[in-house]
Amino acid sequence: MNIRTVATAPFNDQKPGTSGLRKKVSVFQSPNYLENFVQAIFDTIAAPAGSTLVVGGDGRYYNREAIQIILRIAAANGFGKVLVGQGGILSTPAASCVIRKYRTFGGIILSASHNPGGPDGDFGIKYNTANGGPAPEKITDAIYARSKALDSYRIADAPGVALDQQGSFSLGGMAVEVIDPVADYAGLMESLFDFEAIRALLKGGFRMCFDAMHAVTGPYAKEIIEKRLGAPGGTVINGVPLPDFGQGHPDPNLTYAHELVEIMYGASAAAFGSAQAAPLSPLPERSRRQPDFGAASDGDGDRNMILGRHFFVNPSDSLAVIAANAALAPGYAKGLAGVARSMPTSGAADRVAAKLGIPCYETPTGWKFFGNLMDAGKVTLCGEESFGTGSDHVREKDGLWAVLFWLNILAKRGQSVEDIVHRHWAEYGRNFYSRHDYEGLPSDAANGLMAHLKSQFASLPGQRFGSYQVKLCDDFSYTDPIDASVSTGQGLRVIFEDGSRIVFRLSGTGTEGATLRIYLEAFEPDAAKQRRDAQEALAGLINIAHELSELKQRTGREQPTVIT
Ligand code: G1P
Ligand code: ZN
Repeated sequence: MNIRTVATAPFNDQKPGTSGLRKKVSVFQSPNYLENFVQAIFDTIAAPAGSTLVVGGDGRYYNREAIQIILRIAAANGFGKVLVGQGGILSTPAASCVIRKYRTFGGIILSASHNPGGPDGDFGIKYNTANGGPAPEKITDAIYARSKALDSYRIADAPGVALDQQGSFSLGGMAVEVIDPVADYAGLMESLFDFEAIRALLKGGFRMCFDAMHAVTGPYAKEIIEKRLGAPGGTVINGVPLPDFGQGHPDPNLTYAHELVEIMYGASAAAFGSAQAAPLSPLPERSRRQPDFGAASDGDGDRNMILGRHFFVNPSDSLAVIAANAALAPGYAKGLAGVARSMPTSGAADRVAAKLGIPCYETPTGWKFFGNLMDAGKVTLCGEESFGTGSDHVREKDGLWAVLFWLNILAKRGQSVEDIVHRHWAEYGRNFYSRHDYEGLPSDAANGLMAHLKSQFASLPGQRFGSYQVKLCDDFSYTDPIDASVSTGQGLRVIFEDGSRIVFRLSGTGTEGATLRIYLEAFEPDAAKQRRDAQEALAGLINIAHELSELKQRTGREQPTVIT
């Protein structure tokens, strides 16, 4: 094998964010940009010669080209074998599943998750370790440090591998195995859930719609929901992964998954989403009678949105409902070790954990913080308010897994989605919850706003705002209970005497300007008051958030870009 050592200059902006390195496609296409980062990963992880790596992505623009480059750099860096999903496809949870099942050294996932794709869109790259989970901060920090010092990378001079055909190939002496991207994952799902019961549900007239948003879950959902579970053809919509996601924004929420929202809500769909939501088209014929269940997943298949007929399940509630009903799924019948949620996620799951007598952990935002807890056997279920739910079956959040969990619960309980959630609130109380995102803010304004908030922290406790009195404020920091690593600066919290809270955080996944996220939560134990609209119930807290942050003065904005 002919290996070239290419001289290169380091880049100073290759710092991985909440979930890997994300940049515009054009940045990744610029000379040596991807090559440098991949070499920085390999230098950092120091895999023994002959190790096996998994590579796959969400099918977005530049996925195939990037894979060919990574294969050639892997060959030059001594890897013995790379498992690649056919067509370059592997959803994030499927990649995690493959890393674990074949006990590989690690894997590289190419995705910018829910960020738009195409030549003008985003691209991303993330390293996952042998447990199948995102590399922890100490590794991503080391990769960043290495990227700033890199002066060369090694690459094999070899022709590309045909990715569309399954089988074993050789690239300059390194084995490349092109695998079925769906089979291992589908088998894992079948081992966790009661497929028999779900099949019976779907046979009995229950109707569902799954929106793959032109992204990676299409082939997975068709195989599992239509083929193995017997849902009629057409149940999966937008099921072919496209490099530009059909020019959409593959983020499963009420704003961006508007085709599914139209189907599930009919004419009343217009009431949802932000001011920027696309105008709704006339109702298609098939949605005259809305399905019983609707779901969507994002670009790389790790997020999920769950809908009933005319009903949205808040992701924080979804985690709590899954935890409360976990015993209905065969893979979880033996009980849960514990649950974990990210700090901004509502405390709904905490209430279930308390009733089950199991621990509930509060971690910073980002799935990587759940890995240690799962590896140590401390938690079974994890979730984030950002449409992420998952368990220790892999080490990533998992969109289709959540959909199948809900189907399993629906099949066993024989009630509607809405009914299940209402009964849940009646039993545990409702944590009213919403997140307001302000996207594309100038970084200076966003940083100034955060600094202003922090500057008030000493004087806020004890102050009254209408019916709310401030109990404490802090900048959330976390000490990992397993390895004692400390993560600081994870979000500004204003907590009130009645347990309500407002959290302010800047996004770590955006690629343009800054995104401010304001998380709002209030608890309502009284069943008679639980069915109000969340925005209405949280209106007082929203006003306080605006006042404390001087949002309008500092950003010129009053309305969020996206409300979830
Ligand atoms: C966002 C979500 C976070 C999630 C991450 C990756 O990160 O808020 O919960 O883990 O995407 O999907 P953020 O942009 O807020 O840093
Ligand atoms: Zn994602």
